Amino acid sequence: MARFEKDFLLGAATAAHQVEGNNTNSDNWAQEQMEHSSFTEPSGAACDHYNRYKEDIKWMAEAGLNAYRFSVEWARIEPEEGVFDEKETRHYRDVIRCCRENGIEPIVTLHHFTSPVWLIRKGGWEADTTPADFARYARYIAEQYGSELRYVCTINEANMGIQIAAVARQIFQQMAAAGKVQVGVNLEDLMKGSPLLARENQTAFGTEKPAVFVSPRSAHGDEIIMQAHAAARKAIREAAPHIKVGWTLSLHDVQSVPGGEDKAAEEWDREFTHYLTVMAEDDFLGVQNYSRTIIGPDGSLPVPEGREKTQMDYEYYPEGIAHVLRRVANDFHGDLIVTENGIATADDSRRVAFIDTATRGVADCIAEGLPVKGYLYWSLLDNFEWQKGYAMTFGLIGMDRETQQRLPKASLSCLGALR
Ligand code: BGC
Repeated sequence: MARFEKDFLLGAATAAHQVEGNNTNSDNWAQEQMEHSSFTEPSGAACDHYNRYKEDIKWMAEAGLNAYRFSVEWARIEPEEGVFDEKETRHYRDVIRCCRENGIEPIVTLHHFTSPVWLIRKGGWEADTTPADFARYARYIAEQYGSELRYVCTINEANMGIQIAAVARQIFQQMAAAGKVQVGVNLEDLMKGSPLLARENQTAFGTEKPAVFVSPRSAHGDEIIMQAHAAARKAIREAAPHIKVGWTLSLHDVQSVPGGEDKAAEEWDREFTHYLTVMAEDDFLGVQNYSRTIIGPDGSLPVPEGREKTQMDYEYYPEGIAHVLRRVANDFHGDLIVTENGIATADDSRRVAFIDTATRGVADCIAEGLPVKGYLYWSLLDNFEWQKGYAMTFGLIGMDRETQQRLPKASLSCLGALR
């Protein structure tokens, strides 16, 4: 039954590296090939979406969806610093046009975790030169495709690096608090693993500790991200003023139990509030939520006893997206688009239930007057879930990994029926 107006942006999201395959000029690709890699498996051919995007877009259109969020891969477009690749530029133009031909609004992300190797060799996401490099790429994209686009997300989950830094700190504290053995075991592994990996990093990136996008980020790196976003937004507006620009944030539904209020407030400030100044000029905010975090006096608590968990090991909590939308709308006054929300599960009936509850919450927010313009489920396809590899199945469409055959799930048509 229809839950949204016809012009509501209802669709699915992907990221280039997770679906396209053979993203060989990127930092992730290099990391996946290392002998001492922390990735469980390499991305390889992924879902071969690079060659099969037409089929994938058709599946969405046939299901009734009208929006597709995907990312353009910087490492393909600018494989060497300052050198733009015409063939790859044509490729993404074809993808954008294919969306239009199928009545699908393309929502393009410029950076979704992966970067060109040359950028990391220059210091990556901690380097003062990165905002200008990113703005040059953003300008190129806006000049090339500007007339065909209405929405651009500059950076996916701009806050991911500082979230990872905070989690790393908490794990370290817990390890230290848990006593010698646990610390010893982990540290031993670290000692064994890290010098070898460091050497491989040195060869690939010219540094033992590459500042890739998802590395634990320093306060300086956080500034770099904000500068990169602002510089890209300016470049896009100069080249194509009609485009609506925003970035996306990973936002937990941060809740607290008595005694955890201050830590919960700190967490929300880290994830969201301290970015308000840089976001003030954005047209929209991409809201990405998967679960909730409950905070006690000593930090985040385990999933409550008896609660269902997803394959990712966090709590099944589809109510989270509506909570987060209401919370961000108190302080951010542009449009809101749910750019990611989803569940990793082998049981598609749980995905159907998740989408049902989550989208009811989104519809309630709209009824309350919140400017929510879209809902993009993560993800269109079962795909490469970064360090966890292919075992996590978020997709509306399954995959035969041998043949790359697409296996649409019931959740795809359930989502499509909502407008
Ligand atoms: C990222 C996606 C990822 C998804 C599921 C988000 O943090 O943007 O790339 O696959 O979560 O874990």
